[in-house]
Amino acid sequence: MALGPRDDGLAILCRALCCSFGDHEVLNSLDLAVPAGRCVAMMGPSGSGKTTLLHVLAGLITPDSGDVEVAGLDLVSASARALARHRRERVSMVFQFGELLPELNVAENVSLPLRLSGKRPDEGRVQGALEAVGLRDPGAWPAQLSGGETQRAAVARALVTRPAVLLCDEPTGSLDAANSEQVVRLLLESAHQSAATLIVSTHDPAVAARMDETWLLNDGSLRSLRCR
Ligand SMILES: Nc1ncnc2c1ncn2[C@@H]1O[C@H](COP(=O)(O)OP(=O)(O)O)[C@@H](O)[C@H]1O
Ligand SMILES: [Mg+2]
Repeated sequence: MALGPRDDGLAILCRALCCSFGDHEVLNSLDLAVPAGRCVAMMGPSGSGKTTLLHVLAGLITPDSGDVEVAGLDLVSASARALARHRRERVSMVFQFGELLPELNVAENVSLPLRLSGKRPDEGRVQGALEAVGLRDPGAWPAQLSGGETQRAAVARALVTRPAVLLCDEPTGSLDAANSEQVVRLLLESAHQSAATLIVSTHDPAVAARMDETWLLNDGSLRSLRCR
């Protein structure tokens, strides 16, 4: 069920969220409230459930129980059709290794989310997204890109639909400090420009420090480490 914009200005609201795989409880009565336009870092040891939480917010995993609202949609009661639309139009994900499709060139990778929405890819929009991340060769193949360029292409692909919520799963985990800083700056600039809400999971304190606030995921729930 679509709720529309929330009166309280929250882009993300999780209440008593529980999520398990078999008898392994990963998220245990987790609460999270993120105002629209806020940039949040999520830290936590490997296996603590960062990816799982991001997948729940993206509408890829249905939690066992609890409430989840993202960008005005109640993900728990949403129909499969509404969830598919949510994934196509309201949220985008960036992964650790970019996950570009190797058989598509950079421009084709970036325009893919528009094609999946059944829209004729707007060349200007694709071009704008590539320019925003500083990629000059739209015809390049993923195999020809450096790690930093791959991540910048992945960011362009995530931004091309102008999502309300941008979910990034260790987006700088495979980059050196200079490339990491460039990708973080891009994510922050893009989020600010489009008033998008940004969630970034990371092991890097330098990345976390650039966000408005940092949360630690441990034992299935979040606790605030820092808030600006
Ligand atoms: N699809 C799955 N099936 C079974 N167990 C899973 C699945 N996805 C994640 N897990 C388990 O859930 C826990 C949390 O994983 P994950 O969310 O990937 O943590 P993180 O991203 O913090 O490293 C881990 O113990 C992992 O093995
Ligand atoms: Mg992970």
